[in-house]
Amino acid sequence: MRQRLKDGINGWAALCTMVAALLLAAGNAGEARAEYGDVVMNQSSEAAGMRPVVFPHWFHRVRYSCKVCHSDLGIKLEAGGTGIDMLKIIDGAYCGACHNGNVAWSVERCDLCHSGKPGTRTQVHQSAIQKPLAPAAASGAKK
Ligand code: HEC
Ligand code: HEC
Ligand code: HEC
Repeated sequence: MRQRLKDGINGWAALCTMVAALLLAAGNAGEARAEYGDVVMNQSSEAAGMRPVVFPHWFHRVRYSCKVCHSDLGIKLEAGGTGIDMLKIIDGAYCGACHNGNVAWSVERCDLCHSGKPGTRTQVHQSAIQKPLAPAAASGAKK
């Protein structure tokens, strides 16, 4: 029983190592990891005194089909490609189609979107390597 348990654990450890190796390999391939990365948007935010926006792509992708955003809402398939700004959001476009206090929490929750680490440029974040989110303690996020 004990031995079987041990074998089981060893098998599990081997599997974990394998999965980790695969993940690393995928990460090194470049393309694959970008697909899962958060999108950081900082075309206007920091220049206007706000933290960069971190858009958790995967979080949204598991909830909506690609079409909702990339066809119906006109969001481009390129980090920073859409030219999203705050006025459009308040008018109900892009993020504002859902973050209106109805489908999801409203635009008043500034810090939930403007949560990026200062200095992070617009990009698909390779989150296994860098840290797009500002440290919670330092961000002063009001919840
Ligand atoms: C649902 C997400 C979201 C919320 C909530 C939000 N913003 Fe933004 N905001 C964005 C995005 C996306 C941009 C464009 C990011 C970029 O490229 O810099 C932006 C840009 C900005 C800019 C840069 C100038 C401009 O007009 O684009 C300012 C200033 C700004 N937001 C202020 C605020 C303030 C103040 C609040 C709270 C009252 C807020 N935002 C809440 C997503 C959000
Ligand atoms: C809730 C909205 C939303 C959904 C759903 C969504 N996306 Fe996106 N996607 C975005 C936004 C926002 C950006 C960044 C656009 C910008 O910065 O102008 C983006 C960027 C991208 C990019 C370019 C950045 C990158 O990661 O290479 C690709 C590719 C992409 N999306 C693919 C998809 C696919 C495939 C699906 C469905 C499985 C999907 N998206 C679902 C909002 C969404
Ligand atoms: C198609 C609808 C839709 C669009 C478009 C959309 N969101 Fe969201 N978003 C949601 C929903 C639903 C939630 C979950 C809300 C909740 O948990 O109450 C969410 C949650 C979030 C969260 C919190 C994620 C977490 O870990 O809790 C962030 C940050 C966010 N959205 C940013 C954005 C930004 C920035 C944009 C525009 C670039 C955007 N969203 C566009 C529907 C949308």
